[in-house]
Amino acid sequence: MSLRVAVVGAGFMGQLHARVIAESPLAQLAAIVDLDADVADGVAANFGVASYRSVDAICEDQEVDATIVAVPDTAHEEPATRLLQAGKAVLLEKPMAHTLDAARRIAEVARSSRSRLMVGHILRFDPRYAGAAAQVAEGVVGEPLHVTAGRFTFRDVGTRMAGRSSPCFYLGIHDIDAMQWVTGRRITRLFARAVRTLALNSSEPPTDDAIFATCELEGGVVGNLQFGWTLPNNFPSGINARLEVVGTMGSVAIDTHDHGLRVVGATGMTIPDGLHWPETNQRIAGDLADEVNHFVDSVSNDKEFLGR
Ligand SMILES: NC(=O)c1ccc[n+]([C@@H]2O[C@H](COP(=O)([O-])OP(=O)(O)OC[C@H]3O[C@@H](n4cnc5c(N)ncnc54)[C@H](O)[C@@H]3O)[C@@H](O)[C@H]2O)c1
Repeated sequence: MSLRVAVVGAGFMGQLHARVIAESPLAQLAAIVDLDADVADGVAANFGVASYRSVDAICEDQEVDATIVAVPDTAHEEPATRLLQAGKAVLLEKPMAHTLDAARRIAEVARSSRSRLMVGHILRFDPRYAGAAAQVAEGVVGEPLHVTAGRFTFRDVGTRMAGRSSPCFYLGIHDIDAMQWVTGRRITRLFARAVRTLALNSSEPPTDDAIFATCELEGGVVGNLQFGWTLPNNFPSGINARLEVVGTMGSVAIDTHDHGLRVVGATGMTIPDGLHWPETNQRIAGDLADEVNHFVDSVSNDKEFLGR
């Protein structure tokens, strides 16, 4: 029988997850949960599944095996821990939590409940980043010397997230993870500065526009992180990411500014997403579908999740 999966948080990301589950040959969508009744009912009706306001209903529902938690960064702990305690497998959107203590509490509940927890780091399923990590691990570039990683997106994303997230949690967590994963070195120390001048910062609490950091990593490696939601909304691409590792023998570099498809219309050029969740032949393809199907397959067949 296919895994029955409920999606908790039916905003931008939750709706994509719901669609990937509905299209997956390995799973079926069981329910939609959202605090906002209109959102929950509307999204659930699109998929013809049950709609709930809180995870209470899911915790008690024997017809739900697993869940995807896609609520805002600051709200991850409560639904994730309650679902794990109820014996449900959880795919938790990144960042695991918005504080170290909350992340540790979630990890502790996962350990003690023996429910399965996977944090959704989408770049782990991106062939470019996984390819770079494999090349560095095989020694192709020699010993890493320095590494640069970052991403920039539209101002509209910051306006939507103002007061509820930060460029660090929403964007930079991808690059912080990738920098350490690809080089195989942990960040040991960093110096960071934020800029906070755009209009979106009338929010409460105030929200950074962009963050730049100089990093020290294990083994004397130095790095640079930069991320933000500062691009004008008419910028052609919303996913502008890069990573470069230079080592003693060579280098690896990723530039996702150009996704390979350029469209010129009446309002100018756009470069649609060709990486994370592009629609291909009426289905969501790309990294997100691979991530979700990996979670479903691992839970269904009692396999290990991807390692470090
Ligand atoms: N993997 C990626 O590339 C990627 C991209 C974007 C966002 N994200 C992550 O996905 C998560 C959601 O982001 P988003 O952009 O979809 O946010 P969003 O604001 O669009 O949607 C969040 C939804 O959660 C609902 N909600 C809030 N608290 C809830 C609770 N306790 N129980 C049930 N519903 C609740 C809200 O009503 C809202 O509909 C964040 O953690 C974000 O960092 C990941």
